[in-house]
Amino acid sequence: MEYKELGSTGVKLPEIGLGTWQYRGGIEPLRKGIALGAFVIDTAEMYGTEEAVGEAIRSQRDQVFIATKVSGNHLRYDDVIKAAQQSLKRLGVNYVDLYQIHWPDPGVPIRETMRAMETLVDEGKVKFIGVSNFYLRNLEEAQACMTKYRIVSNQVKYSLLQRGIEEDMLPYCQKNQVTIIAYSPIGRGELTSKPLLRQRGAFNILQNIAQQTGKTMAQVALNWCITKPHVIAIPKSDRTERVVENCQASGWKLSKEQLAALDRAFQ
Ligand SMILES: NC(=O)c1ccc[n+]([C@@H]2O[C@H](COP(=O)([O-])OP(=O)(O)OC[C@H]3O[C@@H](n4cnc5c(N)ncnc54)[C@H](OP(=O)(O)O)[C@@H]3O)[C@@H](O)[C@H]2O)c1
Repeated sequence: MEYKELGSTGVKLPEIGLGTWQYRGGIEPLRKGIALGAFVIDTAEMYGTEEAVGEAIRSQRDQVFIATKVSGNHLRYDDVIKAAQQSLKRLGVNYVDLYQIHWPDPGVPIRETMRAMETLVDEGKVKFIGVSNFYLRNLEEAQACMTKYRIVSNQVKYSLLQRGIEEDMLPYCQKNQVTIIAYSPIGRGELTSKPLLRQRGAFNILQNIAQQTGKTMAQVALNWCITKPHVIAIPKSDRTERVVENCQASGWKLSKEQLAALDRAFQ
C-alpha cells in the first residue's frame, strides 16, 4: 500500500480506504482491509453503518483513521454539535479523525456551520475538518469563514466514468493541498460489469489493459484514480476477497501509454 499526505497536515493516509455506504459485510472485510494497510474507514451519520464500523475497529482504535459525516440537513450550529456527539456514541469513540460536511445547504449560512466544525476541533472531538460534494465556490467560501483551521479534504464522485472534477476542483485541490477523497471510484461496480452498448469501446480498452498488466478491471480503474496527485479512493465491498483485490490496486503503476489510453477512452 502506498500513502499520501492528508491536505498539508503531515498525516499519511493509504491511497485506498474502505467505504461503507450500504455496507453489510460485518467485521471481517473491514478488519482485513485495515490489516492490509487500508486504515481509512469512511462512514456517515446517514449510512447507518457507524455501529458496524465501531465494532470492527473496537480493539484497534488507534490504528485506524475514522472519517464520518454530518448530514447536509444538520448544518445549523447546534445540529452539527449534536450530530457529532451522536456519531461518536454510535462509533464508540471519543474522537473522529475527519469530520466531513456531507453536502452543502444553501439555506444555512456556511459561517455558522464552520464555527461549529471548529468548535468540535477545539473540544478534541474532531481532528480534521473536511467537506463532501462541495463545488469550488462552496469550498472557497467555507475556507474563507474559518478562523483557525484548514479544510483538509473534499470527498467527491470521481472515477473513469465521472471526471467532472478534473475541470476546476482537482487542479485547485492539487495546488492548494486539499485531498480529494474519490467516492464511487469503481462507478458503484459498473466499471467491472457488462457495459452499456455506447461504452463498449472504452470497456474493451479497460479490459485489454487489465489483461496486459495481469490486474482486474477494478484494480486498473482504482489505480487510474490514485495515480492523480492528492487523490485517494474509498471503494466499498462487503466481500473480503474484493477488499483484498481493491487494496492491491495500490503499489504498482500503469504506464504513461496505458493512462493516456484510458483518458482517451473514458472522456
Ligand atoms: N460523500 C458522498 O456523498 C458519497 C456518495 C457515495 C459514496 N460515498 C462513499 O464512497 C464509498 C464508495 O462508493 P460506492 O459504494 O458508491 O461505489 P464503489 O465503491 O465504486 O462500488 C461499490 C460497488 O462495487 C462492488 N465492488 C467492490 N469492489 C469490487 C471489485 N473488486 N470487483 C467488482 N465489484 C466490486 C460492490 O459490491 P460488493 O459489496 O458486493 O463487493 C458495490 O456494489 C461509499 O461506500 C461511501 O463510503 C460517499
